[in-house]
Amino acid sequence: MDNQWFQLGYLISAGLFIFGLKMLGHPRTAPRGNQLGAMGMLMAVLTVLLETDLVTRPVLIIAGIALGAAIGSLLAIRVEMTGMPELVALFNGFGGAASALVALAEIYSAIESDTIPKGLELHVAWTAIGLSALVGWMTLTGSLVAFAKLKGGFMILGKWRRTPTWGPSWLNGVKGLIMLSSIVVIYLSVTTPDDFQMVWVLILLACLLGVVLVLPIGGADMPVVVSLLNSLSGIAAAFTGFIISNPVLIIAGSLVGASGLILTFIMCKAMNRRLIDVLFKSFGGSDKQSVTRTKVGSDPDEVAMILDGAQKVIIVPGYGMAVSQCQHQVKEFADLMKEKYDTEVKYAIHPVAGRMPGHMNVLLAEANVPYDQLIEMDEINPEMPEADAAIIIGANDTCNPVARSGEGPLAGMPIIDADLARSVVIIKRSLSVGYAGVDNDLFYMDKTMMLFGDGKKMMMALNSALKEA
Ligand code: TAP
Repeated sequence: MDNQWFQLGYLISAGLFIFGLKMLGHPRTAPRGNQLGAMGMLMAVLTVLLETDLVTRPVLIIAGIALGAAIGSLLAIRVEMTGMPELVALFNGFGGAASALVALAEIYSAIESDTIPKGLELHVAWTAIGLSALVGWMTLTGSLVAFAKLKGGFMILGKWRRTPTWGPSWLNGVKGLIMLSSIVVIYLSVTTPDDFQMVWVLILLACLLGVVLVLPIGGADMPVVVSLLNSLSGIAAAFTGFIISNPVLIIAGSLVGASGLILTFIMCKAMNRRLIDVLFKSFGGSDKQSVTRTKVGSDPDEVAMILDGAQKVIIVPGYGMAVSQCQHQVKEFADLMKEKYDTEVKYAIHPVAGRMPGHMNVLLAEANVPYDQLIEMDEINPEMPEADAAIIIGANDTCNPVARSGEGPLAGMPIIDADLARSVVIIKRSLSVGYAGVDNDLFYMDKTMMLFGDGKKMMMALNSALKEA
């Protein structure tokens, strides 16, 4: 087939990726964006199959596609919404490993077939292979550690072991040393291009770097790390695109790399953290504070009485809403308030509420909550003092006033100012801490009513109480 047709195939697939990514920017267009991305990938795979002589090895290709599709579908079907960050971390790792393996295969086949390039081409090719290997293997081991941390631990010999968070200050020196050594090894591999030993040394250093980079990072900073690893897997793919001269891999890898980096900075901003601090200061550890204070719980009837005639109610959803899957009951509550008291109901969305970017938006969209009621933190906070009630459903860190104090794991993280509403209702099972492990003063304020129990059960009870009020 004419080369121009293949270039056209790559162009169409790159266009589908770009438009798909653009559409992912809004909840309304996101499902279509996702479909466009998948079509772009299909187009890219088909073009590669036609361009190369891979069609001559159908068994290998069909087996690979079938195995990948089976594993991918199984994981995607079985994963709970709350387990999404772990899955994303794992996929990032696989992406990095795939790029690194292609780089490994390229260098191996060049050495074996004695077709090592010369001059400038050698420098470019071997540097790209080295960088792809460094970033790819580092992404794999870093993502596996991130996966284990997000899961909280793993089974070894039938016993549950907690994933440690360990990072003495001297470890930063080790990280620097490994990075420097990796660059020296890439340089040496260019000067001795037929020495395969260099590749093994680089793989070892990269794997070690991934582990020591992620191991000291505390629980509260994990979302930033997962997003950064996502970006790195894209960068590794872009390097691999240069190695195998595949334009669509360069474009797709760059898109993942750039969008992952933008998301990383957005999350750093939302948590008031600098990326450099996340990576090199082991701060925001996963040690949880023990709760010693007590608070008497309220009941749904009491809360329904407080809400009687409320003009404005702001719902603050968090991770607990995702765990209890009560988004439909939350929507029913909003509808009841509107119907009974003509209450204006809005939803306050914190950028890192839940366990993945956009987690709350996805859940609330599933329950058909109108998009215009989902208000970002910066926009909703000025409205908080005029709200008759803030109803917090399974959120904790994202509305913990201690963040304003400048101390501890949540220091400086912008929060939803729920404590400024006239009254506060919090639905959760106990007084226990949130993801960052910090006790929350909001629970103990006089204007706060605690509705202790599972989110779904409590929302159902509250809705019944409202109907009867
Ligand atoms: P969290 O601070 O994690 O608190 C969630 C609360 O939900 C817990 O205190 C828990 O209290 C309650 N809960 C759990 N299961 C429940 C159930 N079935 N029914 C009712 N309540 C339940 O939540 P948040 O405010 O959304 O903050 C998110 C945190 O996760 C932040 O620290 C953020 O940095 C971190 N994080 C975010 C992401 C992204 S990208 N969004 C990714 C990873 C980590 P009880 O046990 O007492 O019920």
